[in-house]
Amino acid sequence: MGATAGRGRAKAALALALGLALLRLLRTFSSLIDYENVTKTYPNGTTALNGVTLSIAEAEFVFVVGASGSGKTTMLKLLLKEEEATGGRVLINGLDLAAIGHKGIPYLRRNIGIVFQDFRLLKRKTVYENVAFAMEVVGAPTKDIRRHVPWALSLVGLSKKADMYPSELSGGEQQRAALARAIINNPPILVADEPTGNLDPDASMEIMKLLREINGIGATVVVATHERHIVDSMRMRVVEIDAGEIVRDQLKGHYRNEISDDPLYI
Ligand SMILES: Nc1ncnc2c1ncn2[C@@H]1O[C@H](COP(=O)(O)OP(=O)(O)OP(=O)(O)O)[C@@H](O)[C@H]1O
Ligand SMILES: [Mg+2]
Repeated sequence: MGATAGRGRAKAALALALGLALLRLLRTFSSLIDYENVTKTYPNGTTALNGVTLSIAEAEFVFVVGASGSGKTTMLKLLLKEEEATGGRVLINGLDLAAIGHKGIPYLRRNIGIVFQDFRLLKRKTVYENVAFAMEVVGAPTKDIRRHVPWALSLVGLSKKADMYPSELSGGEQQRAALARAIINNPPILVADEPTGNLDPDASMEIMKLLREINGIGATVVVATHERHIVDSMRMRVVEIDAGEIVRDQLKGHYRNEISDDPLYI
């Protein structure tokens, strides 16, 4: 009797261990963002994306590069559900974005921090207020706001400029403020559309390093960019899009293909 119970327990423990191992394995292979054969044709007939298939794992850092008009912004807009795919599926954490109704969109966007080329700070609010406002709109308690905003501002090196207005800051500082605002609610995903397009080379490098740091603390970061030198120096995953199609997907890639010796993996 005792021996039977012991065998039962051993079997249960084995089943549990196997189950946990399987879960771990699935997690290793599962992706956070999936584009599955995605097509986007705008109402005027322009096809911006044509059969895009791409998986991005949790905590990855991806540069999306390609000529003007190749479809980078469209890819990012689909993630935010600012635009809808006209073919295929876009999934986040396995959830098909087509299944998210109007009511679910604010929740989706709460999980994605966004940084734009033109900063988009509120002119009449100080740096502190701009960042705090992003917490206020999601109903964060005041005590959390008082604690988190200084943390985010120190992360981007703006503690001393907290009381200044955007017009009193340099472009790089404004983008750092926008970055603090984008991450203040701890979104698992951070999307940046040409975040350094209006900045000089030094400020651009600083912003990209900050994006990388934020990635280092767990965020999945997707950056559309034309910054050839920075992409070449950072050697992160590079996805190149040309006329709406992915033509290159490379780990530790360069801005252009020809100078890379890494094997392609598509
Ligand atoms: N709202 C829209 N309606 C119609 N066509 C659009 C719309 N938005 C983008 N397009 C077209 O879709 C294609 C892809 O545009 P998209 O903005 O995604 O390119 P991009 O790679 O971000 O370019 P850039 O580097 O200039 O920002 C282009 O041909 C563009 O003209
Ligand atoms: Mg664009």
